[in-house]
Amino acid sequence: MDIVEAIRTRRSARGFKRTPVPRGVITEILRAASHSPSTMNTQPWGITVVAGQVLEDIKRGNIDALNSGVAPQGEVPLRPYEGAYRQRQVDLAIEIFRLMGIAREDKEKRTSWMHRGYRFFDAPAGLILTIDKSLDDSPLSLLDMGAIMQTICLAALDHGLATCIEDQAVMFPQVIRRVTGMSASKRIVIGIAIGYPDADFPANRLETKREPVEAIVDWCGFDERQ
Ligand SMILES: Cc1cc2nc3c(=O)[nH]c(=O)nc-3n(C[C@H](O)[C@H](O)[C@H](O)COP(=O)(O)O)c2cc1C
Repeated sequence: MDIVEAIRTRRSARGFKRTPVPRGVITEILRAASHSPSTMNTQPWGITVVAGQVLEDIKRGNIDALNSGVAPQGEVPLRPYEGAYRQRQVDLAIEIFRLMGIAREDKEKRTSWMHRGYRFFDAPAGLILTIDKSLDDSPLSLLDMGAIMQTICLAALDHGLATCIEDQAVMFPQVIRRVTGMSASKRIVIGIAIGYPDADFPANRLETKREPVEAIVDWCGFDERQ
């Protein structure tokens, strides 16, 4: 797949077919993504791939934690958004709920949608990206994590797979640690749901908007006539 086409066509999928993703395919994706750049080539990342009963246990653990009133708290702090950023977050939710036919006042359906996120959107596999704790206080190393995160999502497209990057999936790190036995030397950064997309799933029709380039770029030192 052409690289620009991949960048343009990648979008978050929130509905997947049940078809399992072969381990060999995920290996290929991660082999490609391991070429991502990192600060001084430190490669601070680790990836825990979950499927089958392990994924089921994480999903169940997440929902049990939610239902028992445990506050979701990932290992990378989240902050509330304000102004234009908050507005984009609201617009996203409105659009997803519209596509899914969820009314604003329908608490039951909203809760059920939220649970889906905590269940890796029922994808057949999930990736849990971790950073070595000895580097986790470096914002540069977190940039490295972003680089491999996006590269995984792009590489997945080449295999007909779709992804949804999600912090929801890793908001109960105690569950992930209990089920996977993950080393205490790793900090959990982000989850990625991965699978073959369900083309009929309404939220998969979502096309999120972007600000025009003019709004995000300052040109310096360019001749206007060029
Ligand atoms: C760091 C990060 C965390 C995200 N967490 C979630 C999440 O918890 N739930 C969700 O539905 N989408 C999540 N997303 C997906 C974003 O909502 C999505 O990337 C954004 O709306 C742009 O849409 P697109 O990916 O379809 O281009 C996350 C994306 C990123 C980069």
